[in-house]
Amino acid sequence: MEGSIGFFDSGVGGISVLNEARGLLPHEDFLYYGDNLNAPYGEKPLEQIRALTQDGVDFLLKKGIKALVIACNTATSAHAETLRRELSIPIVAMEPALKPAHSLRKQGRVLVLATRATLALPKFRQLMALYGEGALPLVGEGLVELVESGCFSAKEADEAIRSLLAPFLRESIDAIVLGCTHYVFLRPRFEALFPGAAIVDGNAGTARRLQSVLTQNNALRPGGRGKTKLFSSGGEPFLRLMHSLLEEKANEVQHG
Ligand code: DGL
Repeated sequence: MEGSIGFFDSGVGGISVLNEARGLLPHEDFLYYGDNLNAPYGEKPLEQIRALTQDGVDFLLKKGIKALVIACNTATSAHAETLRRELSIPIVAMEPALKPAHSLRKQGRVLVLATRATLALPKFRQLMALYGEGALPLVGEGLVELVESGCFSAKEADEAIRSLLAPFLRESIDAIVLGCTHYVFLRPRFEALFPGAAIVDGNAGTARRLQSVLTQNNALRPGGRGKTKLFSSGGEPFLRLMHSLLEEKANEVQHG
């Protein structure tokens, strides 16, 4: 089926999900919109997150997308239910990967890092009730800003993570859930600082879900080389950053 798959995030975080989806679905065309001008969403009031998410999704809908990926845990928690009620295209949304982390739990703790808004909203409480035993939710303060800045050294990232998770550096940690798509770009730093912990994110699962939803809806593009088009409310500097974070650059990438 022709038509692009729309990806929405508050900024560049969703590019980490798009990387998985492009790997799994090389024939598909993707339109990515990052609302970098308004990131981070996680510290904003619920009504504002909803309104900004709606604006971003409207932008993609006007371009004529055949499916939508809300590549943002915060926007999902705030607005996915409304979007599912109102839109007729397939929607794939995200939540912190507590379920797989729960199955990795042995004797230690599971740390769940996400934005303040994600952790405060009812969707997360429901998830905690199901898979939250031994899990400790923590706001990943400052990490979205770091990733959006685009220029940080491993040392700076380590300092930011260390200052957030200092009390746990010497504890037994079984898993750390990266419950915000921006944090996934810091995965190597989490792995270096917590070598004994499984670092878990929902990106591969989201890409597989997208594949199965497209298959069920008979909406897969049968062949050809897919294209990716990037858009940002923040303009050129953010488009350049998105481009630098995209993997598999052999595929054609255009800026909106
Ligand atoms: N990337 C987002 C998420 O997955 C939100 C980051 C933000 O804007 O606070 O939650």
